[in-house]
Amino acid sequence: MQARVPAGLDRKETEIYRQLDPERLPRHIAIIMDGNGRWAKRRHMPRVAGHRAGVAAVRSTVETAARIGVGALTLYAFSEENWKKRPKSEVDFLMRLLSRYLKAEVPTLNENNIRLEYIGRQHELPEDVQERMAWARQSTAHNTGTVLTLALNYSARSELVDAFRSMANAASQNGGFEHLRIDEDTVGRHLYTSHLPDPDLVVRTSGEMRLSNFLLWQLAYAEIYVTPTLWPDFRGLHLLEAVAEYQKRERRYGGLNGDARGRLGDGLGKADK
Ligand code: FPP
Repeated sequence: MQARVPAGLDRKETEIYRQLDPERLPRHIAIIMDGNGRWAKRRHMPRVAGHRAGVAAVRSTVETAARIGVGALTLYAFSEENWKKRPKSEVDFLMRLLSRYLKAEVPTLNENNIRLEYIGRQHELPEDVQERMAWARQSTAHNTGTVLTLALNYSARSELVDAFRSMANAASQNGGFEHLRIDEDTVGRHLYTSHLPDPDLVVRTSGEMRLSNFLLWQLAYAEIYVTPTLWPDFRGLHLLEAVAEYQKRERRYGGLNGDARGRLGDGLGKADK
């Protein structure tokens, strides 16, 4: 029996959705949104026009993810490096764009049952932006569907540094370092993403083959999908294509797949087993 198509998907999205197994959706998709500048350059427009066009891509991607029931979507909107290395005018523009996006989008996030979260060093962002962020998070806190996490002023290495500091602080308040036990779960609980499962799929637009300091711990076993599409051209349809590709892959987590195990088994004599 064919799975029921979620409401709100357009004709092309429906076509791809029908090829998917709804039982095997990635629980968490992370996206490195890249190519806004190149999109603008190709049109002889200023870079900021690419960022402005990128908002429509965010809207479409977020809505499609929520419609098909992806549990978590994390968008790399603004890295710590962006903040330090781009001209002030571009950074100011991105801050205004984010503020406007948050104000305009809260009703749609609520209609789609999406809860908003953030990762990154928020305290270093302008105060008015922090206030808007807190307001938007608060306004969607009751939602129980997709968790949309925006990475803002984010760096994976800074996140790890903050996690180590946080573990050291916790130890000094709980009997000192001789009681400190560190394992992978402990580290996970001290990361910014403690509210999320690790991503199953990471998408990068604009054809670049880098992780760019994004979720370095959490992406350990993620499937990587790179598309040449520039971020402002990316839509829900492209997200579904990425999910279709993800479902074709076989995930092994460092183990052996069924076939390989079978072949290996055949080759072993009883004494070897
Ligand atoms: C990368 O393109 C994109 C960014 C640094 C900013 C991302 C911002 C948006 C998509 C718009 C707003 C987002 C939200 C959440 C409201 P680039 O400038 O590095 O492109 P290039 O590599 O082609 O120069």
